[in-house]
Amino acid sequence: MAQTIFIPKETDPVEPRVAASPETVKKLIGLGFSVVVEKGAGTLSRIPDSEFDAAGAKIGSATDAKSADVILKVRRPSLSELKSYKKGAALIAMLDPYGDDATVRAYADAGLSSFTMEFMPRITRAQVMDVLSSQANLAGYQAVIDAAAEYGRALPMMMTAAGTVPAAKVFVMGAGVAGLQAIATARRLGAVVTATDVRPAAKEQVASLGGKFIAVEDEEFKAAETAGGYAKEMSREYQAKQAALVADHIAKQDIVITTALIPGRPAPRLVTKEMLAAMRPGSVVVDLAVERGGNVEGAQPGKVVEIGGVKIVGHLNVPGRIAATASQLYARNLFAFIETLTDKDSKALKINLDDELVKATLLTHDGSVVHPAFAQAAAASAAEPAAMKPAEKPVRKAPARKTKADTPKTGGEA
Ligand SMILES: NC(=O)c1ccc[n+]([C@@H]2O[C@H](COP(=O)([O-])OP(=O)(O)OC[C@H]3O[C@@H](n4cnc5c(N)ncnc54)[C@H](O)[C@@H]3O)[C@@H](O)[C@H]2O)c1
Repeated sequence: MAQTIFIPKETDPVEPRVAASPETVKKLIGLGFSVVVEKGAGTLSRIPDSEFDAAGAKIGSATDAKSADVILKVRRPSLSELKSYKKGAALIAMLDPYGDDATVRAYADAGLSSFTMEFMPRITRAQVMDVLSSQANLAGYQAVIDAAAEYGRALPMMMTAAGTVPAAKVFVMGAGVAGLQAIATARRLGAVVTATDVRPAAKEQVASLGGKFIAVEDEEFKAAETAGGYAKEMSREYQAKQAALVADHIAKQDIVITTALIPGRPAPRLVTKEMLAAMRPGSVVVDLAVERGGNVEGAQPGKVVEIGGVKIVGHLNVPGRIAATASQLYARNLFAFIETLTDKDSKALKINLDDELVKATLLTHDGSVVHPAFAQAAAASAAEPAAMKPAEKPVRKAPARKTKADTPKTGGEA
């Protein structure tokens, strides 16, 4: 009998995405699975039940989780959801496990093979499964759309019979996946774009998108990239030089989009209240790092605030603001991973513990915590008195998002 894949409706109120699309449902059925989608799971991603039905899925309810062999989710399940899963089932989602060993232990105690997609190594083979990139890319795009909506003026230069409107000046801070997409999007909308980053490799990428690169290019800058391609935390001296450069530049900008993150550290503070005070009233600042401590002083998670006439946008779950596209890409990332896990002969999931993608993403298996980043904590907690066992502590309801930096670098750069 075919194994069943279940796609529940996300229970976290801030999550409009869904872990499958009609396209991936068809492909999952093509691999030999039967697929059940919870009623209304795609509604907030603009996918009606009828489209999942037409793709071959059965439309079910939350209770279908009980008989599923594989559960696909966007966010981690709540404790009550977890209790409804079948022992031995595979759970594939962005489980956001860092800082929460108790929840990882709970997956093991529930007998789940739990995979966390954010840990997918950034190697060529796994690019199609890279949820961080697919979602950050959309966040970069959406940041520009949100900024343009708040700006209330046109972005491109316009020469009209009534006179000329100048192009908006957009400054992007942090030119990783999100920042590069923000640069491309602002350029498409006709803005004059400048960008900064601490990684020298970003200079050429910014230029290739038509942006002008601005940075303190000293000796420290030349060595600011880790072997994994991420930024290092910069010295106080560098930060001071960077702040002086930014302060001067930012005062002339109409829109600032910040995306800067550092592995294992809180987001760097790049825009101070003094810098905001130097900006023209009516300018807009979007802080994409707000969920990880924020790049902008005064930015508030989930809010648009105004300081001295400058709007500071701190939306949460920015990929979720473009949920239909975010779900489509996330679903493809998951499908690509499931395809590699599926045994062609038995048409069932077969977890090869020697596969580097499995090693990097598998948190728990056969009742144990198997991921090296959590196994030690799990062993220590097993020695605690029964009343203290983490599995009995409640699962966090709305976890803080893991910093990218926490992602173990299990593979090399592509
Ligand atoms: N090979 C692959 O499949 C793959 C996929 C995605 C990303 N990458 C690479 O990984 C790297 C990181 O990308 P990411 O988007 O995940 O990064 P990220 O989300 O960790 O950080 C965003 C950006 O902020 C920058 N930053 C940090 N501190 C800063 C500061 N003080 N001032 C200005 N900028 C600062 C970082 O250098 C980075 O470019 C890039 O080199 C990217 O090309 C590779």
